[in-house]
Amino acid sequence: MIELYNVSKRFGDTLAVDDISFTVPEGKFCALVGTSGCGKSTTLRMINRLTAHTGGEIVLDGQAINAYDPVQLRRRIGYAIQDTGLFPHWNVARNIATVPRLLKWPAGRVRQRVDELMQMLGLPAAEFASKYPHQLSGGQAQRVGVARALAADPYMLLMDEPFGALDPITRETLQTMLSGLQARLHKTVVLVTHDMDEALRLADHLVVMREGKIVQQGSPLALLQKPESEFVNALLGGLERGLKQASLTRVRDHMTPLGAMLPAHSRIPDRYTLRQALSVMLRDHCERVTVVDQHDVPVGELSLRKLVKKARPEKDDASGS
Ligand SMILES: Nc1ncnc2c1ncn2[C@@H]1O[C@H](COP(=O)(O)OP(=O)(O)OP(=O)(O)O)[C@@H](O)[C@H]1O
Ligand SMILES: [Mg+2]
Repeated sequence: MIELYNVSKRFGDTLAVDDISFTVPEGKFCALVGTSGCGKSTTLRMINRLTAHTGGEIVLDGQAINAYDPVQLRRRIGYAIQDTGLFPHWNVARNIATVPRLLKWPAGRVRQRVDELMQMLGLPAAEFASKYPHQLSGGQAQRVGVARALAADPYMLLMDEPFGALDPITRETLQTMLSGLQARLHKTVVLVTHDMDEALRLADHLVVMREGKIVQQGSPLALLQKPESEFVNALLGGLERGLKQASLTRVRDHMTPLGAMLPAHSRIPDRYTLRQALSVMLRDHCERVTVVDQHDVPVGELSLRKLVKKARPEKDDASGS
């Protein structure tokens, strides 16, 4: 669990982070968003003591971070950054093995873990293990950075735009991997991102920053439904907010069971979001689609009318702290 109380960071005359407070309960996913220079990276770096805070208190698992040994602390917290910070004179396998080696894992276990991670991140060991960082593309280097952050199975992950340089397909694969990892292994994650769809898709708790301050925080749905300022509204996509809300809801939760009506021409999987369903309707010029399960068996249907009705806020979800 991560708790920040009235935390500030001053660099000389610059107040980079100004009196912010938020909590990430154990196993939850928090996304930090906001315009460039608003203090997101600084906030992340204060949590693993790469940067010392100058005001307030940061508490990890009930203990103030100043009470931890900074080196020990960083070995327990995975940290991935956009420009990767890979060691240039070490090959990929060695880079990924950094923390397990520091923790003195047996060599066999290290090798196995490195192979497993490379596989998971779509970097075949045969091709990439002995390459050096300068021989990698930006996206490949980023994936090595993510693998390194995950290597020692840290209980907490801090990620600073880790997928920035990836194509949409690889990015989505890694987002799915990350959200699966977090759901399965209950990692506590703080992610900094400029990609609002990524933040909305992954986060339990969204923290919006502007000029060093938190301007609003809460669940993605709560923020989409009630942005408290024009700034938050604009950041969340302005007119697109309706679509973004539709992308937080799955078709399976809102379809009508298959009735006596003839199945519609277009079929969509029940795992699709309402936004994807709407997109199919627009693409196929239809107002009704048949919903199928993972075996392609029809299980329901969704009409445009139902979708529009269901996309309306049902309850006021204002969770968060
Ligand atoms: N080491 C430093 N010395 C002085 N000023 C700094 C330092 N690091 C960051 N800053 C300043 O603190 C402010 C916040 O920087 P930070 O890197 O946290 O922003 P950010 O929200 O991560 O921005 P971006 O989205 O562009 O990455 C900026 O004004 C920056 O210039
Ligand atoms: Mg930054």
